[in-house]
Amino acid sequence: MSDKVEGAKITIFNDGPVEVYGPFTVVDEDGKVVAVVEEGEPVYFCRCGASKDKPFCDGTHDDIGFKGPLKARSPKQA
Ligand code: FES
Repeated sequence: MSDKVEGAKITIFNDGPVEVYGPFTVVDEDGKVVAVVEEGEPVYFCRCGASKDKPFCDGTHDDIGFKGPLKARSPKQA
């Protein structure tokens, strides 16, 4: 696998959110644009389910002691 990054870069934090660096666009299920994220700009998506600002992380995972047992892996390992 190449280390070269093109487009969005995604980091899965073990006990926290999913960090995604732009460029990318967030849309709802109807295709309405919710956010346009510029290159190099990070956005954090909630993975614990407790954020009051879903789909974005608001830091609540720290307050509730979220433990994310799933680690980042290749989709081919699913
Ligand atoms: S992962 Fe941060 S509030 Fe859910």
